[in-house]
Amino acid sequence: MTPGVVQRFVRLDERLEAVLALLHTGTHADIGSDHAKLPLRLIQTGQARRCIVVELNPGPLALARRNVARAGLAEQIEIRAGDGFAPLNPAEADSASITGMGAGTIAAILRRAAPGILPPTLVLQPNDNPAPIRLWAQESGYHLTDERLIDGYWPYPVLRLLRQPGPDPAYRNLPLAAALRYGPHLLQEAGPLLAARIRADVSRLTPLAAPGRTAQQELDAAQDALKVLNGQTDWAGT
Ligand SMILES: C[S@@+](CC[C@H](N)C(=O)[O-])C[C@H]1O[C@@H](n2cnc3c(N)ncnc32)[C@H](O)[C@@H]1O
Repeated sequence: MTPGVVQRFVRLDERLEAVLALLHTGTHADIGSDHAKLPLRLIQTGQARRCIVVELNPGPLALARRNVARAGLAEQIEIRAGDGFAPLNPAEADSASITGMGAGTIAAILRRAAPGILPPTLVLQPNDNPAPIRLWAQESGYHLTDERLIDGYWPYPVLRLLRQPGPDPAYRNLPLAAALRYGPHLLQEAGPLLAARIRADVSRLTPLAAPGRTAQQELDAAQDALKVLNGQTDWAGT
């Protein structure tokens, strides 16, 4: 820390607090960091030794530089301009986060990463349905080891992925479409926030559903999810 700088813990909103709680790491990369609050707290709490901030746009890049300099943490937090994982070197980071973006955007950033760049631990917080990220993880050798649903402006999903061989055991004995849409761990936990969301989906989709329509597939997934919440485990062994 720079001498003479008074260290004040940076405040995070609840979704970033949930992301922080899932990280204990060596070198962490925060992709699309904007204000750099997550890396600042990771260093301040000792949950990361070093951070790399990656930002695509000049305004947020300047904000990150300003916040890091004000906190006197420029030695521990390096700021790099660029797109997604492109500014990182192979095996440089032990973990990475991408937060506050659409799930499709996050999945696209992950897909664009060059081979050998992605770290073994990823914590991702999309602002909408995380199905594209869960699908990417299944195809790319990552297992879902933790999921949270945080009450906020929307229900914010937070996912932790770990690089592991073989099929992800989290999906065992669950209807696949429902688990990809609502989350295998969240379905097993059956919390009130998820239950409310699934019931809202059933109400919204019922008048739209008809054979061959996407709404019908989504309604089927929501109804399967409700069965899991109600303890109907017809899928055992599938
Ligand atoms: C909505 S903000 C989220 C900021 C912060 N991660 C959070 O959760 O509060 C998204 C940030 O990601 C940056 N961004 C978007 N696409 C990016 C990319 N491909 N690579 C790096 N940064 C990106 C934007 O410039 C913006 O600052």
